[in-house]
Amino acid sequence: MTDGQNALTGLRVAVLGPGGVGGLLAALLARAGAAVTCLASATTAERLRADGIRVESGQFGDFTTSVEAAERLAEPVDVLLVTVKATQLDDALERAPADVLGDALVVPLLNGVEHVDHLRRRYPQAGVVPATIRVESTRTAPGLIQHGSPFVTVDLVAVPPLEQRVRRLADALERTGVTVRVGDGEAAALWSKLNFLAPLALLTTAAQATAGEVRASRREDLVAIIGEVAAVARAEGAPADEDQVVAFFDGVPAGMRSSMQRDATAGRPLELDAIGGAVVRAATRHGIAVPVTARYVDELRERHPGS
Ligand SMILES: NC(=O)c1ccc[n+]([C@@H]2O[C@H](COP(=O)([O-])OP(=O)(O)OC[C@H]3O[C@@H](n4cnc5c(N)ncnc54)[C@H](OP(=O)(O)O)[C@@H]3O)[C@@H](O)[C@H]2O)c1
Repeated sequence: MTDGQNALTGLRVAVLGPGGVGGLLAALLARAGAAVTCLASATTAERLRADGIRVESGQFGDFTTSVEAAERLAEPVDVLLVTVKATQLDDALERAPADVLGDALVVPLLNGVEHVDHLRRRYPQAGVVPATIRVESTRTAPGLIQHGSPFVTVDLVAVPPLEQRVRRLADALERTGVTVRVGDGEAAALWSKLNFLAPLALLTTAAQATAGEVRASRREDLVAIIGEVAAVARAEGAPADEDQVVAFFDGVPAGMRSSMQRDATAGRPLELDAIGGAVVRAATRHGIAVPVTARYVDELRERHPGS
């Protein structure tokens, strides 16, 4: 890079699914100077082209920024951020053909673990980078994003031969104000989020109650699920300490809810299979018994057919 250039200069980013997560990152990157194209349905793409993305955020301020938008990726990009929900992934990927994407970095920010292998099979030439995001951000209408949390933290995994390109992306995101951590453990990155998220999502959704309520009323199940997920995480090669997760759960705000719970309340499909189903499948592969997790997954599947 020469003087006056930085990681954002000339960086071409496509964002597949400009919702709570994707819309926020698309707007931050575009505002900071990256060339951003959102891949979305015809109606959403038209709205974004006409009005840009409006972000309301305590951390980043309220702002509107213009972005490119298309129904389908037509030109190569440096980075594809995949920010649809797990239940929308297969349909959405049709918008990013492998031959156009080429060897781009593909960075999925979905919750869950199995999508990484899925994307590697689908885009054999691309560099699929396991990643997670910690944020609370909601798409209230196409192109309207409310960012509620006072932070956005992205964890990226940099493994050979992608380190340099991952570090450029990390640098670009940091320049927008996002906190970025770059690690080298794939399993650790993915399972460290699931260790907390799976128990939170399963319990709050099944009970239709807050974290504070379930940690009192369903404590035995909470401790059991945390222990089961931690055992699976360790078998997958990720460090996991159930006592720490229980302590963390006890420390989160009592009113905390999960996005799975919000999806259930709104009658939307749940990311149950990507979160709970993935734990049960990994447990089966490793011969680990996860009876309480499996009971919650089965019960929620029955209550929310198709999830
Ligand atoms: N939101 C958070 O605070 C948060 C935090 C951490 C992790 N996550 C995870 O991040 C992922 C995304 O969640 P989210 O809350 O950002 O979801 P979201 O707000 O519902 O956004 C999903 C976006 O995907 C778009 N979409 C759906 N089907 C599509 C398709 N076939 N082609 C193109 N775009 C399509 C939707 O488009 P329309 O706008 O046209 O409907 C929407 O903009 C999930 O795995 C979630 O668990 C979310």
